[in-house]
Amino acid sequence: KRLAPLLALMVLVLSACGRSDLSTLNPQGPVAQEQFGLMKLAISIMLIVIVVVFAISFYVIIRFRRRPGDKTIPKQVEGSHKLEIIWTVIPIIMLIILGVPTVQSVFNLAKDYTKDPDAVKVIVTSHQYWWEFEYPELGIKTAQELIIPTGKTISIEAKSADVLHSFWIPSLAGKIDTNPGANVNTMYFSAPKEGVYLGKCAELCGPSHGLMDFKVKSVDESSFDRWTAALQEPVALPSDPAVKEAFVSKCLTCHAVGDQGGPAFPNLTGIGSRQTVGGILVNTDDPKYSNEGSTEENLHRWIKDPQAVKPGNQMPKVDLTEQELDGIAKYLSDLTLDYQQ
Ligand code: CUA
Repeated sequence: KRLAPLLALMVLVLSACGRSDLSTLNPQGPVAQEQFGLMKLAISIMLIVIVVVFAISFYVIIRFRRRPGDKTIPKQVEGSHKLEIIWTVIPIIMLIILGVPTVQSVFNLAKDYTKDPDAVKVIVTSHQYWWEFEYPELGIKTAQELIIPTGKTISIEAKSADVLHSFWIPSLAGKIDTNPGANVNTMYFSAPKEGVYLGKCAELCGPSHGLMDFKVKSVDESSFDRWTAALQEPVALPSDPAVKEAFVSKCLTCHAVGDQGGPAFPNLTGIGSRQTVGGILVNTDDPKYSNEGSTEENLHRWIKDPQAVKPGNQMPKVDLTEQELDGIAKYLSDLTLDYQQ
């Protein structure tokens, strides 16, 4: 009975691990599979160690236990060269079996990221607490949702705009630190199937570290081309003059839509097509998620009090009338990119 709460906790923890879209145990694509292979190797070796050590322990406990009436002192052994050599050599062999392929993989992953001439280059910049994705060869920038063509190699250069974060897509590849300053880390991956893969920040980076999620959306190549073309189109500002005035003077000072606005903060072009607002609030009118709010409600909630949604993030509370807020939330939810057929 005393074990019941512990068991309940374990079930809870394991059920959270069971999310296949956020699991390294469900590897998708060559990089994740290679990393999963290393995990299996390490776990196998650990299992062998556990089984052998436990078997020897149990044997010794039973074989050399004190029997009733036995008052003698057992044979005293001090030092054994044979044993010492055995327990030094075996771990060394095990570490070589573990270490050589691991180090090889780590260096290959960093080195091979430029190898594929058809690779799509992406510069990932982490910010407290959001992700910026720049496609330098295509001249476009987006945030929170990395759109990639299915099957193609994606070459990542990762850095940070503020503190140390870590870029991690558990089912595709992971994870690399994003460092502030000149130290750029590199990796590559590819997604074998169309679909959405969840990403997370994997380095404690402040109060909203746990909320620093992103998505990787893998689409067919023609959709990808339409998406990149759509991102380069000019974007119309709100049609209502009062909403437009508020949006330009209060939002575009930092954010950008199309070729207008500031470059530094999440680019809002196509935000209505993303799966989330701020990386965590749902951005869909799918009735399945109706209890989590509509796109417009969540945009409203985010703009009204960003600190309540993601504590410690850089977005200030903007002074807007309720009408301006409604108008901007509506405008942003309609700011979609039509690229998927
Ligand atoms: Cu960014 Cu943790």
